[in-house]
Amino acid sequence: MAVYNLATIDVAKVIMFVTDSSLNQTNKPEKKRFVILISGLGSNMQHIAQLANDSSSRVSIQAVVSNKASAAGLDWAARRGIETAVVDHRLFSDREKFDQALARVVVKFEPDYVLLAGFMRILTPGFVNQFKGRLINIHPSLLPAFPGLHTHARAIEAGVQRHGCSVHFVTDELDYGPVIAQAALEVSTTETPEQLAQRVLVLEHQLYPKVVQWLSRDQVTLDDNGKVTLHGVSYRHIGTSE
Ligand code: GAR
Repeated sequence: MAVYNLATIDVAKVIMFVTDSSLNQTNKPEKKRFVILISGLGSNMQHIAQLANDSSSRVSIQAVVSNKASAAGLDWAARRGIETAVVDHRLFSDREKFDQALARVVVKFEPDYVLLAGFMRILTPGFVNQFKGRLINIHPSLLPAFPGLHTHARAIEAGVQRHGCSVHFVTDELDYGPVIAQAALEVSTTETPEQLAQRVLVLEHQLYPKVVQWLSRDQVTLDDNGKVTLHGVSYRHIGTSE
């Protein structure tokens, strides 16, 4: 695992990667390159990474990057031969400097898409704009309801009948931005926020890999007005009202 903790580090010297130029010559489908950012367990990342095991998959996970060296998902990824890196946010004096260092690490992996999967840092406009149209997040609510933290407790408190998760393009505004797809479930009147979170997480594990597959096959477009179009996909929703 590479650990980056200095804003001035020359990442080119510490990351080595090989570009496979033979893909097209062997008639294999061209793969899309994904970098996944995590802060913790990385269960969403694990479900996405498993897509790459399918020989017909167009998903290639180039790296898993975390702001925390203790993130359990890093070990999981490293054990499967996925490149991992840490950019420790505590070692930077402000958000801009951290985001600049993070961006320098991410671009070295030449991603087509950057996936936030439980990455619990607010990103600056500089970072968001650098990856505009290629930066995707999963959030545990049916956006635009309940951006921010403690979404499950807030959903129960508000007495909503449906709750779920959203995969969306990231914009400057926290947990906002064009929604690509959502998954929903019925909220039980007796469940705790923890129980609801567990049930929503199961939906997340279905939804995010589905969206990543669509991205890998060029089935998702975002126009200049922020409108998302899915090509060759007949549904954008998983769950109770499917
Ligand atoms: C997931 O529930 C994800 O939706 C949430 O953090 C969890 C990470 O779990 N993300 C956010 O709240 C972002 N606003 P994981 O590390 O097991 O994938």
